[in-house]
Amino acid sequence: MSHVSRRPDWNLPGRRVTPFAVHSRRREFLRQMGFAGAGLVSALHGFGAEPAPSGAPFVPARRHPDFNPKLDITPEKLSTTYNNYYEFSTTKDRVHRLVDKFRVDPWTLRVEGLCDNPSNLDLRELLQFPAEERVYRFRCVEAWSMVVPWTGFPLARLIEKAKPKPEAKFVKFTTVMRPEEMPGMVRLSDYPWPYTEGLRMDEAMHPLVLVATGLYGKPMPKQNGAPVRIVVPWKYGYKSIKSIVRIEFVKDQPATLWESLSATEYPFESNVDPGVPHPRWSQATERDLATGDRIPTLKYNGYGDQVAKLYRRG
Ligand code: MTE
Repeated sequence: MSHVSRRPDWNLPGRRVTPFAVHSRRREFLRQMGFAGAGLVSALHGFGAEPAPSGAPFVPARRHPDFNPKLDITPEKLSTTYNNYYEFSTTKDRVHRLVDKFRVDPWTLRVEGLCDNPSNLDLRELLQFPAEERVYRFRCVEAWSMVVPWTGFPLARLIEKAKPKPEAKFVKFTTVMRPEEMPGMVRLSDYPWPYTEGLRMDEAMHPLVLVATGLYGKPMPKQNGAPVRIVVPWKYGYKSIKSIVRIEFVKDQPATLWESLSATEYPFESNVDPGVPHPRWSQATERDLATGDRIPTLKYNGYGDQVAKLYRRG
């Protein structure tokens, strides 16, 4: 992401991130319990289950035949070492070197706001949602792209469970905020942390939106948003928020980090559209991360058949 050099007007002293005290160390036996669980689940499913970075049992899911396009999958090495995760660094190939201290177990995802059935989900509960593997195109607003296999389940399943009230019109997502484990947050202390994103309720319910817990049949790497992130394949990559701790049903369109930084460059809706240039560069083509080739950008990142109906107005 090309970040904004000018100090925007939300830059008030009260917004500054104060480093927190370092959290107390987690007890190691939790991790060991996670490993034991992984062994059991693996035996039951006949898969080689791996412990997530969190130690939670992760089971690779079968690839869904409807989400297995005839496209070359980007090498794992590339998509796990070329990352946008500003809480760690703005330098893509540094992010994966800075995640060691980031603790992703225990983890609680709070589902709350305007709903009848709020809940606190831990990793084990999240991993109990029936998961599948889907190969999606992923298009960053910076005009590069990749093709990766995510493991996860439709966000709609989680929303249905929460029973949102009729007045809930948007879903807001929030990333964990731990400056003591995330060096980029301290360096970018003027950013309006935590990282937040949002979708309209009908977008959030669309079956393409994933709650992802894995990548390449393995637990989600920390640099890609462990232990759980959102993936919205027809929108620019910044909508696919990493390491979420809160999903909230709200009445009004939520402020998002990137929109707060620059609403003209990173608007809320942000559907991939080759016809609408970014104020500072064209969006007509994108650089394939694997080959380096410039390829045409597709409207809705190629998912128009499924999602265009969400945007038919009038
Ligand atoms: N989520 C958080 N919390 N912080 C970030 O900096 N970057 C976004 C998105 N989600 C970002 C984030 C952007 S700009 C992109 S392109 C994708 O994550 C990159 O995902 P990847 O590193 O898995 O390719």
